Amino acid sequence: MIDDRRLYAPAAARNREPIREVLQRHLPPAGLVLEIASGTGEHVAFLAGASAPELIFQPSDPDAAARASIDAWATMLSLPNVRPAIALDAASPVWPATAADAVLSINMIHIAPWRATLGLMSGAARILDDGGLLYLYGPFRRHGRHTAVTNETFDADLRQTNPEWGVRDLETVAELAAANGFAPPSVIEMPANNLSLVFRRQS
Ligand SMILES: C[S@@+](CC[C@H](N)C(=O)[O-])C[C@H]1O[C@@H](n2cnc3c(N)ncnc32)[C@H](O)[C@@H]1O
Repeated sequence: MIDDRRLYAPAAARNREPIREVLQRHLPPAGLVLEIASGTGEHVAFLAGASAPELIFQPSDPDAAARASIDAWATMLSLPNVRPAIALDAASPVWPATAADAVLSINMIHIAPWRATLGLMSGAARILDDGGLLYLYGPFRRHGRHTAVTNETFDADLRQTNPEWGVRDLETVAELAAANGFAPPSVIEMPANNLSLVFRRQS
């Protein structure tokens, strides 16, 4: 019997191509891409499969079932440029990764306590050199307001599930990024009222 530990997230199948389109304009042709909160592993598998083998992807997730799924996707698709998933809690002051050319985090900061965003920013600043890419994807409020009724409903659901979760303010995230040495982000509107935020590390 095949031990297939792959998990599926319907949203990943819908948003992976728009995310790839944005990332292909910003990722370097070669180097190391650290993904924070890889979840099922569908994004890393898709992005790595669409990239040159010189661009190496390091997936991560604090959840063991997610890491098993990520590794199962990479094995099933025989992806040479995906490393085994590592256990990484963004909120931790020490990460098991010390350098990267890009850091990606898709749909994490609203489904984790704010300390995960604090850790994401300081961790990304620690491991990226000048010019390094920090890419965030997800729903955000802008100027204190939701950008769609569906995002407002989603936010209320998140906060009911866990009062520490919730859709974050773009401006607050950008201020935190600036405090950690990132330039103001390029903001790209994405399908289903999500945003891509493209930050660059600067000295
Ligand atoms: C909604 S899922 C998104 C997964 C995937 N990026 C996607 O878009 O399909 C949120 C992920 O965040 C991870 N997560 C939650 N808290 C985290 C933290 N403090 N550090 C890193 N990952 C975290 C969860 O384990 C989960 O895999």
